[in-house]
Amino acid sequence: MRLLRQRRRTQRSELYAGLKGRLPLAAGGPSAFSGTLPRMKPIGEVTRGTTHPNRLRRADRWFIHAMCSQLRAAANPLCVDIGFGHTPETTIEWHDRLRTHVRPDIEVLGVDIDRARVQQALRSSAASRPGLHFAHGGFEVPLPSTVAHLQVHAIRAFNVLRQYQEQEVAAAWHAMAQRLVEGGMLMDGTCDEIGRISTWIAVRRIDGRAIAESLSLAAHVGSLDTPLTWAQRLPKSLIHHNIEGSPINRFLVAADRAWSTAAGLAVFSPRQRFITMAQSLKDQGWPISDSAARWRLGEVTVAWEAIAS
Ligand SMILES: C[S@@+](CC[C@H](N)C(=O)[O-])C[C@H]1O[C@@H](n2cnc3c(N)ncnc32)[C@H](O)[C@@H]1O
Repeated sequence: MRLLRQRRRTQRSELYAGLKGRLPLAAGGPSAFSGTLPRMKPIGEVTRGTTHPNRLRRADRWFIHAMCSQLRAAANPLCVDIGFGHTPETTIEWHDRLRTHVRPDIEVLGVDIDRARVQQALRSSAASRPGLHFAHGGFEVPLPSTVAHLQVHAIRAFNVLRQYQEQEVAAAWHAMAQRLVEGGMLMDGTCDEIGRISTWIAVRRIDGRAIAESLSLAAHVGSLDTPLTWAQRLPKSLIHHNIEGSPINRFLVAADRAWSTAAGLAVFSPRQRFITMAQSLKDQGWPISDSAARWRLGEVTVAWEAIAS
């Protein structure tokens, strides 16, 4: 069994290695890829399909804040949800939220590498919603003919890479970034079962490369015990680096100290305590973005350079 898994991993690594040369970075933008890509086996492998309604609400709220103006200004934007799981509930919610809060004509494509999950989604009532599409595929991000004329401004891969090996993450980011327009965003994140604790990395396509930009940490503030809880839910590229003295560890420890120091404010409101923690991190020199308006939601974003090993 272990041998079989090892062999599959080797095959995947070979596929990733070969992929770099096979996907051209077309100057005309990713739509230039349609029709030119060789038909290939989806990149990746089927993993657990666990999902839960509304578990991605925190990530979706941040995504709308971060991407709203870019998506509104775009001519034909498409947002792709990679790995929607057993049922496409979180894809449907993303589609609803984007249509309600960003623009009513936005198109969303849900992709899963498990063919049966895709067929089920295609047979469900979700498939008849205007602007919501489903396709079978992997990190190569297939664009079916119905959306091939659109430009991919964002890709969300939530609770997907968590189930891969850390050394596979860079190649997966690279493969997905090939589909993005220049400046488009890939969100690689994880969360707990019901989405009370969530973390995600924002990756941008810059000069054809996948460049990590920031790490966001979000929680239901009323039930946040300590910021150290985020450690169990870090994205794959960080989770194994949380060892004493590493940048991500120093950040989490600093957040924990600031949270403890602000404990007295919890009697007023846990939100006030969260805001004070975020401000304190900023005052200590951590490159924290945004202001109290977002911190009060239980969300803090730090520049990638500060926490990457
Ligand atoms: C745990 S579920 C995540 C569901 C949903 N995104 C969520 O967060 O609730 C992971 C899904 O990703 C799919 N998956 C794994 N690797 C993939 C890949 N390379 N491309 C597309 N889907 C993939 C699996 O088949 C599975 O359905």
